[in-house]
Amino acid sequence: MTAPSPAAAAGVYLDACATSPPAPEVLAAMAVVQAQAWANPSSLHGYGLAAAEALERARWRCAALLGCRPEELVFTSGGSEAIHLALLGAAGALPPGRLLISAVEHPATEAAAAALQRQGWQLQRLPVDRQGLLDLEVLEHWLEPPTRLVSLIWGQSEVGSLQPLEAIAARCRQAGVLLHVDAVQVVGHRPLSFQELPVDLLSLAAHKLQGPRGIGALLVRQGVALLPQIGGGGQEGGRRSGTEPVVLAAGLARALELAAERLQRHGGSDPLAKLRDAALERLLALPGLRLSGPDPRLSPAARLPHHLSLLVSSPEGMPLGGRQLVRELWREGYALSSGSACSSSGSAASPVLRALGYGEAEAASGLRLGFGPWLSAADLEGLPAALERARQRLTAAP
Ligand SMILES: Cc1ncc(COP(=O)(O)O)c(C=O)c1O
Repeated sequence: MTAPSPAAAAGVYLDACATSPPAPEVLAAMAVVQAQAWANPSSLHGYGLAAAEALERARWRCAALLGCRPEELVFTSGGSEAIHLALLGAAGALPPGRLLISAVEHPATEAAAAALQRQGWQLQRLPVDRQGLLDLEVLEHWLEPPTRLVSLIWGQSEVGSLQPLEAIAARCRQAGVLLHVDAVQVVGHRPLSFQELPVDLLSLAAHKLQGPRGIGALLVRQGVALLPQIGGGGQEGGRRSGTEPVVLAAGLARALELAAERLQRHGGSDPLAKLRDAALERLLALPGLRLSGPDPRLSPAARLPHHLSLLVSSPEGMPLGGRQLVRELWREGYALSSGSACSSSGSAASPVLRALGYGEAEAASGLRLGFGPWLSAADLEGLPAALERARQRLTAAP
């Protein structure tokens, strides 16, 4: 079985931060497990035992690759569910207090935080600077009681900022406050060992690293109490009921393995950063294009290695609509995203760019490029010219 190659399809796929095409090796591993271990792992007959064994093998492999104990890993349906289990689960085992999140969280965190507010929790959003980075002094100020839980997006999906996790975690530890990190955009792009990370809970999703959609995981530090959010058969050590997706778990394990091998081959750093930096250099040569989020040429450690985000204006400096640009770029054969979904107010301005301090029109002019291992330098050769043509068509439109 071969995976559909986005580069060979109608366009060059540059939307890795939205999702990524499953790797052929992942599909092959899943096909084997699908054929041999399709049964319910809780069944006591031989079919069930085969499924249970495949599930545990996948769990052990994932745990080894993530540097956690097998019993610290809870399979979920993806990143959003992992985040909900982290926030509602950890808060459910605590008396109501205050939750800190940043002003640039994924909507899943915002939704879980709103649910906690309805349960009597206070919510404090911490501001970020123009790069999307937290001010550690502000964090420290808010770590006072009644703060009991902090949830932060480690790698920001829209502007690429990587929060200084070690420094944040040290402050949370000192204050005795639980820390959850949304590592959905990070896993697969840097070596990671949960054992060595000073965090209590960590969320990830397989589909961002060429694994299957429909599975993610929450890593839960041993000893951290968690109130299950889905009851029933008591699977996943009683923390998440529901018949386990054995095939998807095998796919996640293979995807993690491929990512770890790639990082190892490149001395522990993501080779996509080179491709990204080359594209950045050429794109910024166009008039009217600006980077949003941290500049990887100045502070590579502050930005996701596979991520680029731009603000696009006409050469005269008029911000253009990111969503329209995305449509025009698809006509040119490039699949990327604007990062700004139309809000209920009808505005196309991105709340994340607004939180970074950009005005309404600029915050609607974002483009996001997400790079993946399926891309080569040749795939990106024509991108600046295509962007220029797309921009000209938009500028010329009445
Ligand atoms: C940073 C971040 N957190 C959470 C999620 C949600 O993950 P999922 O789509 O697997 O539910 C995403 C997905 O876009 C994300 O980028």
